[in-house]
Amino acid sequence: MRLLAILLSGIIGLHLSSCDAVTGKVDYSTEKVLLDSNWAFHVGAVDSLKLFNDTSAMDNSENLGFQQVDLPHDWSITGPFDKGNPAGNQGGALPGGIGWYFKSFTLTENDSLKNICIAFDGIYRKSKVWLNGHLLGERPNGFISFEYTLNPYLNFDGRQNRLIVRVDNSEQPNSRWYCGSGINRDVWLIKRGPLYINQSESYFYSSTVSIPNNRQREYAQGSATLHQHLVLNGASATVKPLEIKLTLWDALQHKVGEKVERLSAQNSGVINTLDAEWPLNDLRLWSPAQPYLYTLQIEVTQEGNMVDRYRQKIGFRHFRFDSQNGFYLNGESTKIKGVCLHSDFGVLGTAYNYSAMHRQLKLLKEMGCNAIRTAHNPPAPGMLDLCDSMGFLVMDEAFDMWEKKKTKFDYSRDFKAWHRKDLEDQIKRDRRHTSIICWSIGNEIREQFDTSGIRLTRELVALVKALDTTRPVLSAMTETQPDKNNIAKSGALDLMGFNYKIDQYDSLPINFPNSCFIASETVSALETRGVYKNEPKDTIVYMPVGPQQKFANNTNGDWTVSAYDKVAAYWGTTHENAWRAVKNRPFIAGTFVWTGIDYLGEPVPFPFPARSSYYGIIDQAGIVKDVYYFYQSEWSDSAVLHLLPHWNWGKGQHVDVWCYYNNADLVELFLNGKSLGKRHKADGQKGDNEFHVSWQVPFLPGTLKVVAYQKGKAVKTTEVKTASAPSRVKVDVDLSGFRGVSGDLCYLTLQLEDEQGNSVPDNDRLLQFDINGQAKLVGINNGYQAELRSFQSEQYPTWKGKCVVVVRPEAAKGSFTLNVKGQGISTGAFKVNFGK
Ligand code: GAL
Repeated sequence: MRLLAILLSGIIGLHLSSCDAVTGKVDYSTEKVLLDSNWAFHVGAVDSLKLFNDTSAMDNSENLGFQQVDLPHDWSITGPFDKGNPAGNQGGALPGGIGWYFKSFTLTENDSLKNICIAFDGIYRKSKVWLNGHLLGERPNGFISFEYTLNPYLNFDGRQNRLIVRVDNSEQPNSRWYCGSGINRDVWLIKRGPLYINQSESYFYSSTVSIPNNRQREYAQGSATLHQHLVLNGASATVKPLEIKLTLWDALQHKVGEKVERLSAQNSGVINTLDAEWPLNDLRLWSPAQPYLYTLQIEVTQEGNMVDRYRQKIGFRHFRFDSQNGFYLNGESTKIKGVCLHSDFGVLGTAYNYSAMHRQLKLLKEMGCNAIRTAHNPPAPGMLDLCDSMGFLVMDEAFDMWEKKKTKFDYSRDFKAWHRKDLEDQIKRDRRHTSIICWSIGNEIREQFDTSGIRLTRELVALVKALDTTRPVLSAMTETQPDKNNIAKSGALDLMGFNYKIDQYDSLPINFPNSCFIASETVSALETRGVYKNEPKDTIVYMPVGPQQKFANNTNGDWTVSAYDKVAAYWGTTHENAWRAVKNRPFIAGTFVWTGIDYLGEPVPFPFPARSSYYGIIDQAGIVKDVYYFYQSEWSDSAVLHLLPHWNWGKGQHVDVWCYYNNADLVELFLNGKSLGKRHKADGQKGDNEFHVSWQVPFLPGTLKVVAYQKGKAVKTTEVKTASAPSRVKVDVDLSGFRGVSGDLCYLTLQLEDEQGNSVPDNDRLLQFDINGQAKLVGINNGYQAELRSFQSEQYPTWKGKCVVVVRPEAAKGSFTLNVKGQGISTGAFKVNFGK
C-alpha cells in the first residue's frame, strides 16, 4: 500500500448531516439529487439586465415570456424544419439561437457546511451559468460533463437561490450533423460532506486473468486484482484514523468479499490518498453475451460515523488487441461487431432519455451488435451505464476536429483553450466503465495531413495515458499511406483505426508493421425503409456519383433511396461488402458500421427537403430496415428468415426478391403455393452470395412464402401477402424501457392493415392522435428522411404503412388510451397499462 499525502486547504468542522436516533452515529455521505424538473425557459432575447439585477422577477418568469420545461430539453427539435435555418439540412434544417433557463431552489441551515455543487451532464453548447447573479463559469464544448461549486454564493436561510443558464447555439453551422440546443442532459445538485470521496479523481480498475472455460460452468470465470486509487477531499475535524471498507457484492446481492484499510489523518487533520490492491478469485467475467456486474461499495468511516459512501457497478473482463488475430475477450478470439451512434433520440432530438437510449440499444443487441462507437463525442453518462449493464464494448470518442475546422463555427475555435480540460474530464468521468475498451482521440482529423498532427497526437495520447493506462488509444483515420498520415507518424497510437477504404485493408499490415487494426468506421450505405427500386443485379449505385457532384438527382421523385443493400456513398460500400472485408481478415479486430440508427442532419445524397440521414440500419423512428436482418443473420444466434420486398406490385412486373437467413441449409420460395426453386447462399446463382439468396419473380397477387430447411426438415417459414387498402391500425407496445421513473417513455409502433389483417406497405394515411388518461403525447415519427411535419404535431402521416408514437406516462403505474383516426380507417382506441 502506498500513501500519498495531498495538501488540501481549509479544515471544515463536522456537523450533523443525518443522525441515527438509536446509535447516535452520523451519516455525512454524498447526496446526488436530480434537478431536472420545473425550469423556466425562453429562447431569444430577454431583458438580461432585469434578469440579473432583479432575479426575483424570475419567480414570475411567465411574465417575462418564459415557459415551464423539464430537463433534459432540446428546444430546436420543435422546429420548424426550414431551408433557411442556418444549420442547413446537413445540420437537420432546424433552428438554433440563444436560450435561457432559470431555476430557483432553497437550502436549509443544515446544508451550510456541506460542499454544494451543480453538475451538468452536458449542455449544447457554449453555456454560461450564474448563481444569484455571480458568474460560475462557461463551457463551450456541447458534449462534456462539468460541475461548479456553489457555496460562496448560496443562501442557506430559506431565501431563494436563483440559477440562470445561457445557452448559445446561434453560430451555425457548428457541426456536421444535428446536435440540438439546450440543457439536453441531466442536471444534479450534489451535496458532499466536509470530507468526501472525490469521484472524478478516484478510480478502480482490475487486472483480470481469465481462466479457460470449465465445461461444468456456463459462464467465463477468472481471477482479478482490483486496484483502487481513492482520493479524499476536504479535511477531518479530528486526527482520528479513518476506516475504509470495500465490499463487493455479486449480481444477486450476495457478499463476495470485504476488505478494510486504515488511513491516518495528519495531525492537522489533512486527509490522504489511498492506493490499495485487492486480489479476487472465482469471479464471473463480464462480456457482451453475459454482462455480469458486481457492485463495489466504498465506505469511509471515522469512529463509526459515516464520512462518505460510494457505490459503483463493476465488471471483470480481460481484453487485448492483437496484430495478427484482432481482438481477444476473456481469452476468446472475438470479432467486434459494432455500430457508430450519434446522440439522436428521434422525436426528443438530442434530449437524453433513459427509455429512448434503452430502446436503441435493445434493438441493436437483438441484431447481434456487440459494440458502440460514440461518434464523435463523449456521450451522456447514462448511455455508458446502459452499455455496462446491457453488454456492449465501447469506443469512447473525444473529438470530430482539433485545431482545423470542419464547419465554420465548430469546436476548432475552442480547441486550443479547452481541449486539455475537456479530454481530461471525459477520461476521469468515463474510466470507471467496464464497457469501454478504447479511447478515440478524434475522427477523421484534418491534422492527419499537417505536421502539427504529430505534436497534437502525442500530446493527446499522453494526456489520456496519464489518467488511464488500461485501454489503448486510437484515432479514426482515413489516410492509409504511412508517409502522408501525421497522426500515424506520431508513433503514439496503440491501435490504428481506419475509416472506409476496404480495398486497402491488405496493405495495412505491410504499411504499419506490427500494428493492431480496427475498422473504426465502415459502410455508409444508403437506404429508405420500405422503398424498393429494382436496380440491375450486381450493380452498386454510388451517390452522389463523385466529389465533384455535391447532390444526386432526386432519382425516385420523393427523396428516397432503395432499401436493397445496393446503394452507398461513394466513399463507402454496401453492408455486405464492408462486412465481408472485415469478417475475412482476422487481423482486423472488428467494425463500426456507419450508422446503427438514422439521425437528423447529413442527408447525403440529397438537398432540402431531405433533413435526416439515410445511413442507418434502423430508421430515425426506431423501425428496422431490411439490412437489419442481414446483420442479425450474420452476427446473432437468433434464427433469421427475412424476405424482401413487400408483395404489392403491378401484374407481371419482375420483382427482385431477396432472402436473408441463417441456421438452415437451404430455402425454398413459393408463390401462391407453387415452388419457385430451392436455393442456398453462395450456390453460384447470379446475384446471390454468401449473405443472401435472390430470385426474380414475375408478380402475381397473393402470398409469397419462403421455407427454410435444415437436414431436409422445414424449420422456419416467412410470408408476405398482397394487401388491399388500409382499414385499421395495429399497435405494438414497447414498455421494455419503462421503469416507472419520471420521464420514462412508452413506444407504440403503428402498422396500417387491410380488412384481412395484412400489413399495408404502400398506401399511407395521415393519422390524427390524441391521448386520454395518465400520459402525454411526446411526438410521432415515421422515419421518412424528407418528412417536414413537426414531430410534435397531432396529425402525422405513416410512411410505408408505419409510424411510432412516443408517449410519456405521468405515473409509475396506470393506464392511458391512444385514440387514432384517419381517412378510411376504423377509429382505434388502444388501451395501454403501464407499470408494475
Ligand atoms: C464519415 C464521417 C462520419 C459521417 C460519414 C458519412 O467520413 O466520419 O461522421 O460523416 O462519413 O458517410
